[in-house]
Amino acid sequence: MSQLTKTDWIWKDGSFVRWDDCHVHVLSHSMQFGSSIFEGIRCYSTPRGPAIFRLREHMTRFLNSAKVYRMDLAYSLDDLVQANRELVVKNGLDSCYLRPMALRGYGAAGMVPFESPLEVYLPCWPWGTYLGEGALENGVDVCISTWQRVAPNTIPAMAKVAGNYLGGQLIKMEALANGFAEAIALDTGGRVSEGSGQNVFLVRNGAIYTPPVDGSLLPGITRDTVISLAHDAGIPVHVEAIAREALYMADELFFSGTAAEITPVRSVDRIKVGAGKPGPVTRQLQAAFENVTHGKAPDTHGWLTHVRD
Ligand SMILES: Cc1ncc(COP(=O)(O)O)c(C=O)c1O
Repeated sequence: MSQLTKTDWIWKDGSFVRWDDCHVHVLSHSMQFGSSIFEGIRCYSTPRGPAIFRLREHMTRFLNSAKVYRMDLAYSLDDLVQANRELVVKNGLDSCYLRPMALRGYGAAGMVPFESPLEVYLPCWPWGTYLGEGALENGVDVCISTWQRVAPNTIPAMAKVAGNYLGGQLIKMEALANGFAEAIALDTGGRVSEGSGQNVFLVRNGAIYTPPVDGSLLPGITRDTVISLAHDAGIPVHVEAIAREALYMADELFFSGTAAEITPVRSVDRIKVGAGKPGPVTRQLQAAFENVTHGKAPDTHGWLTHVRD
């Protein structure tokens, strides 16, 4: 479980406000109807100071989420990139998690949001391992959720919107209630989709497999990173539909996500995955990820935004 660690400043629509003074009205549209869009981004400590990982890609997804929900934000991609950099500097942090949010504020009485002003907030705070102590080193035990992911053309899974996370909360709470660290949810056709807040990969015969972006899952930026790192390492990548039982038969399994990073999965439904411990391909990708995020390897893909450059 993780609790928020307070920092000093939150960027709000072009200026910095104190963490404790950053409030929204209880009748904000987003409070009533779950209509806020958001991102989750990590900033890592590197030898050249703090660097935000894949900031432009995250803020592009943010703007795309806004577009789907007809939110005409007043900020360009460059504005948002710059504001996130200033945020980390202003808070004096060496590493942190950033949570850009765009809300529909106070005004509209009903579901139609257009009478509510758009408000953009950029908070950040220090955040450690998401799936618990030792998760990255030892792996986690997961189950298949009884809750399925959204179906195509219901609630848009490619947009990162607060309301989507009602499903994620049900998936995660059920897993915790049953003694698992996380769950993997299936899509409404019964194929593997993703975790409550992470994408999923399996390893078989030295190749990695992950489900396609087909309307039930978020196109993770870490997922894309893993695919690129696998290509760099000559590991074959297959993006294809995955049957539930393939999870039990996998040599290795892992999650990818900004919060979860690359977390090995050691069992599914109490069935051991491979040897029941993180395998060599997962370890290799974890190491490559750690090296690039922490500036220990050349940033050949241009993924790091150094906040003070
Ligand atoms: C539902 C869901 N799937 C996948 C991911 C992984 O995406 P990313 O790697 O961009 O953090 C996240 C995290 O944002 C998520 O919330």
